[in-house]
Amino acid sequence: MANLWVRKPLSQLLAQASDSEKGLKRTLGAWNLVALGIGAIIGAGLFVRTAAAAAEAAGPSVTLSFIVAAIGCAFAGLCYAEFAAMIPIAGSAYTYAYATMGELVAWIIGWALVMEYALGAATVSIAWSEYLNKLLGGAIPFEWCHSPMEGGIMNAPALIILLALTLVLIKGTQESALLNAIIVAIKVSIVLIFIAVGWSYVNPENHVPYMIPEGTPGHEGLFKHGWGGVLGGAAIVFFAFIGFDAVSTAAQEAKKPERDMPIGILGSLAVCTILYILFSHVLTGVANWQEFKTAGKEASVAYAIQNHMPGYEWLATAVTVAILAGFSSVILVMLLGQSRVFYSMANDGLIPGVFAELHPKFRTPYKSNWILFLFVGAFAAFVPGSMAGDLTSFGTLLAFVLVSLGVLFMRKSNPEQPRPFKTPLVPIVPILGAVICLGMIVAIDPFTLKAAFAWMILGLLVYFGYSRNHSKLQS
Ligand code: ALA
Repeated sequence: MANLWVRKPLSQLLAQASDSEKGLKRTLGAWNLVALGIGAIIGAGLFVRTAAAAAEAAGPSVTLSFIVAAIGCAFAGLCYAEFAAMIPIAGSAYTYAYATMGELVAWIIGWALVMEYALGAATVSIAWSEYLNKLLGGAIPFEWCHSPMEGGIMNAPALIILLALTLVLIKGTQESALLNAIIVAIKVSIVLIFIAVGWSYVNPENHVPYMIPEGTPGHEGLFKHGWGGVLGGAAIVFFAFIGFDAVSTAAQEAKKPERDMPIGILGSLAVCTILYILFSHVLTGVANWQEFKTAGKEASVAYAIQNHMPGYEWLATAVTVAILAGFSSVILVMLLGQSRVFYSMANDGLIPGVFAELHPKFRTPYKSNWILFLFVGAFAAFVPGSMAGDLTSFGTLLAFVLVSLGVLFMRKSNPEQPRPFKTPLVPIVPILGAVICLGMIVAIDPFTLKAAFAWMILGLLVYFGYSRNHSKLQS
């Protein structure tokens, strides 16, 4: 009889960590890690979903939504930092759960992480397609850059960028620290320029009332107006913070993980939070949030500049080009993260070994990358970006809840284990992290929640039908 709660011994994990450490050099300092985090963080969440959150739930108070989401992330981030400094191995939250809460919970997280990384990549590729079309002056026929659910045929540009980046990944072309630094510099500069230039175009009337008043047509639900709308908005813009956990996957390359992991994770979060609040303040001040329901629904930042900042057309073009470059690095990190999680799961026997097979020459899990391309591509081509984005947020939030709880479990099960970095104020921080993230899960729209639960149930069927019987720990 299989044991659903079997835990992977920490000693075995740490042995794997030092094994895979061969060849990896501890070269990353705190600032490199902050740059890595920002490279993975700033993307579609900021440039697409800020406007969506304002239009659907929060209005101008989307700034507050960013603060709520940031607090949830900071608490979960502190928990990630403890694990990342303690178990520096690929697989991230899935691996931490295997060591703390057992196989079934680890499986659930792994399955949820597919939503985070695979659907995250799909969401950003759909956003990429939006901005490409904007750059080309709308030259791509509507039906070829929209999903059937939006009245189109398929989103071809999204599929093409995914294909291109899949090929890059298979060849194993690692983004060098330099390339990442350049993209980060471009992204951050564009955000700063938009804030600085847009500041004088802010029309204070656009910020009144600050929250969407009760009774506004189309905003009947609890999470669609007022403070509830702030929380609903937080669930939408939460997407913009996804990626700081990617810093934890670089734990093996950090010079001083015990010091630099927390700085990398929390530092990149802090920088992004400040930028996000200022950016959303300016965006909802330059254009009225209602416009993001109609004409400004797609490529909202370029729309706001073109329509409300006369003389700055060049900025709209520069923003668009920078966004396209920035999105590419986010997609790449997401696809990479997904293949790492699959790699760990396949090595544990929970999914078929094909996901861990390496290319004879490039030493990359190329079969996994191709399967992933088909899966992610199907979502990118045939599902609307907002739906893929909400599912991404669900998966990530679930992982954050479980990682937060994992810290509590691990403190009980392995109290003596050296912890280079300790989450402060345990159990308050992990509990608040879990509660705030759960709050955001509840605020996700009901249709997405149903789809997410269907996905999780499918995961359980796979676990009981396949994984449980193939698990290496069980044999
Ligand atoms: N945080 C990443 C983005 O906004 C996923 O694109």
